[in-house]
Amino acid sequence: MAEFDLDAYVARSRAVDLSAFHWDDVPRYAVSADSIRTLRYMQDIESHTIIYLRSLLATRAIDDPEVATFLGCWLYEETFHGIALRRFLEAAGHPEGPRPQPRGQEPFLKRIEAAATSMVSRAWADFCAVHMTWGAINELTTLTGYRRLAAVAKHPVLTDLLEQIMLDESRHFYFYYRQAEIRLQRPAVARVARLLVDRFWAPVGSGVQPTRELEFLAGYLFSDVEGLAAARKVDDTIRRLPGFATVQLLEAWMNRHVGGRNGNGHH
Ligand SMILES: [Fe+2]
Ligand SMILES: [Fe+2]
Repeated sequence: MAEFDLDAYVARSRAVDLSAFHWDDVPRYAVSADSIRTLRYMQDIESHTIIYLRSLLATRAIDDPEVATFLGCWLYEETFHGIALRRFLEAAGHPEGPRPQPRGQEPFLKRIEAAATSMVSRAWADFCAVHMTWGAINELTTLTGYRRLAAVAKHPVLTDLLEQIMLDESRHFYFYYRQAEIRLQRPAVARVARLLVDRFWAPVGSGVQPTRELEFLAGYLFSDVEGLAAARKVDDTIRRLPGFATVQLLEAWMNRHVGGRNGNGHH
């Protein structure tokens, strides 16, 4: 895998251009209730990025200048993903209502932080490896989720929008993945990172949105043949990281949470 060119990324980092989409055409094509429900979830998670970052800034992850530079641009781009998805929902006649609960803490991240701090004496380098691994999994899952939604929803304006967003998500994934790959070279670090992922990982949005919403989305996007293949591809990509060859992620989670609903599960 080639190096991630941080200078080129920073130079190119920009907001999704909202003027580039044909918002007036949105109501001309049907959007199913299931797609709307999925988009609401995704919109909420994109908007949650700043809260997620708050938790990260409380760790020493930002001591690394490359990571700090990346996170600044990353937050900016993710924020605009939330704005763009909100705009689509409005144009489709489903404006965002008030959020049931104010954005609070990120319980799973807090748990990791506490565990990492107590389990690892050389806390910072190791924690950053976990953070980068976690980020790679989240970004790849998000990217794959958007690709699946575009395929399932078949709405031309949504497809245009998601394609733009996916360009950002693939760059985000690449940054985290390369960082993780480098940091996990040290077997001791890889062992701890793997332990924490095994113990604490759950799909992106867990702890932010109710589990039933996540299960719905997973069933909608990942339970048919193409969806399951996409989920497996995420798992296989993460398994190429040092120390992660046997990690159980999306497919295992699907089997635990969505298995019963999978009516066409050919394996
Ligand atoms: Fe995003
Ligand atoms: Fe992203």
